[in-house]
Amino acid sequence: MTLYDKIYKWLDDRFKLRELLPPIVKHPAPTNVVSNPLYCLGGTAFLCFLVLVVTGMFLAFYYKPTPDEAYKSIQHIMTEVPLGSLIRSIHHWSANVMIAAVMLHMIRIYFMGAYKKPRELNWVVGIFLFLIVTTFGFSGYLLPWDQLALWATKIGTGIAGSIPIVGGYIALILMGGNDIGAETMTRFFAIHVLILPAVIVTLLILHFMMVRIQGISGRL
Ligand code: HEM
Repeated sequence: MTLYDKIYKWLDDRFKLRELLPPIVKHPAPTNVVSNPLYCLGGTAFLCFLVLVVTGMFLAFYYKPTPDEAYKSIQHIMTEVPLGSLIRSIHHWSANVMIAAVMLHMIRIYFMGAYKKPRELNWVVGIFLFLIVTTFGFSGYLLPWDQLALWATKIGTGIAGSIPIVGGYIALILMGGNDIGAETMTRFFAIHVLILPAVIVTLLILHFMMVRIQGISGRL
């Protein structure tokens, strides 16, 4: 009996897993998925997301989201907090790897035709996930409040502002005024740590439920 079987039996005796959770707990992956690493890209993106959540929680212990203190608090994290620079670097690199993994995942879905019937709706959910992931990156970029952050946000909000008709409103909502300042920082922080996490968790639940209900595409 493997360790997995022992744990499963222990839980099954107590919580009747056999009845409640069979599709989740005992669901071997089809052979085409096991033998093809391209099917790991979505999982890689999800793993990065989990790493980002955990490292983000640690960063939130020390980061101060005000124009006066943000830059100093990042310096404090990098130079004085034990393992601070490691945690911040892992957060930074996981964000980059996540964006790369999501893009490659999208390319795999496109070229394998996995977006076709019956998975059209999961593709649509995926498009929203892609937008959320890039907005995570954009909103996080401002938080260190250094020159790079300020000018990158200036360009980003400028691009948003150039959208016909609604652009001006979007830029105003993002910046909380006519220029980047304390209001912008509060908004970007709220977007980064409250709004986007809530939205992405909801979308990921939908995404994974659809994968599970429809099964993975390709031959079995
Ligand atoms: C946060 C971002 C995302 C995560 C964590 C994620 C995760 C996953 C995982 C774990 C799977 C099953 C295994 C696999 O095919 O890799 C999957 C399948 C799928 N994903 Fe994503 N995904 C994300 C974004 C996207 C995007 C941007 C799209 C497309 C616009 C997309 C469309 C799909 C589709 C259509 C499937 C079903 C594939 C099939 O049946 O072969 N996903 N996703």
